[in-house]
Amino acid sequence: MTYTLRDAEPSDLEAITEIYRESVENGVASYELNPPDLAEMTRRFTALKDQGYPYIIAEEDNALLGYAYAGAYRTRPAYRWTVEDSIYLPEASRGRGIGRALLGELIERCTGLGFRRMIGIIGGGHPASVALHKALGFEHAGTLHATGFKHGRWLDTVIMQLALGDGQETDPDASRYPGTLF
Ligand SMILES: CC(C)(COP(=O)(O)OP(=O)(O)OC[C@H]1O[C@@H](n2cnc3c(N)ncnc32)[C@H](O)[C@@H]1OP(=O)(O)O)[C@@H](O)C(=O)NCCC(=O)NCCS
Repeated sequence: MTYTLRDAEPSDLEAITEIYRESVENGVASYELNPPDLAEMTRRFTALKDQGYPYIIAEEDNALLGYAYAGAYRTRPAYRWTVEDSIYLPEASRGRGIGRALLGELIERCTGLGFRRMIGIIGGGHPASVALHKALGFEHAGTLHATGFKHGRWLDTVIMQLALGDGQETDPDASRYPGTLF
């Protein structure tokens, strides 16, 4: 392993915007149809950071190999201990274990922040993403059939879940809630 993981900085957002653009235009992981520009990606990044969620990147020789972040699963306040993960690598970085490293780090950070459950919403049930989540211990929670329509075809959405820390065994520690969203 020659790459390192670190917190994303505003200066990374240009490369992140480009990675996401490629995925939006060519893939089914994201259900966006038009790639957001740098200003919109900056607004989203700032909102996530302000709410205390982790946003991390993998880099090697100053090149950005992929990024991952956690965000609210849903914004009604009873969901506040549940996060949804997002992770994107450019095609050239895939299959080297970088996705596994990024998602592993995201899980560790979210656990440390006191969150209790992570949800993966896998667009089109993409096999690489299902395999990645399975490798990190996620369980299949269900499939929402034909809930997306992109690139001229219907997409099934696979939901996967992972308990973090004590999971449901103890109540969450309200004093540790990291964000300002709720
Ligand atoms: C999904 C994605 C993040 C995986 O990252 P990656 O670095 O290529 O995956 P890794 O090399 O870390 O592999 C992780 C696990 O998934 C498996 N895997 C990876 N790609 C696979 C594929 N195409 N088919 C089947 N299994 C695959 C690996 O074998 C590995 O399992 P193991 O550790 O038990 O051997 C990457 O393919 C990607 O960015 N895809 C496009 C965007 C996307 O789908 N994001 C997910 C949004 S929820």
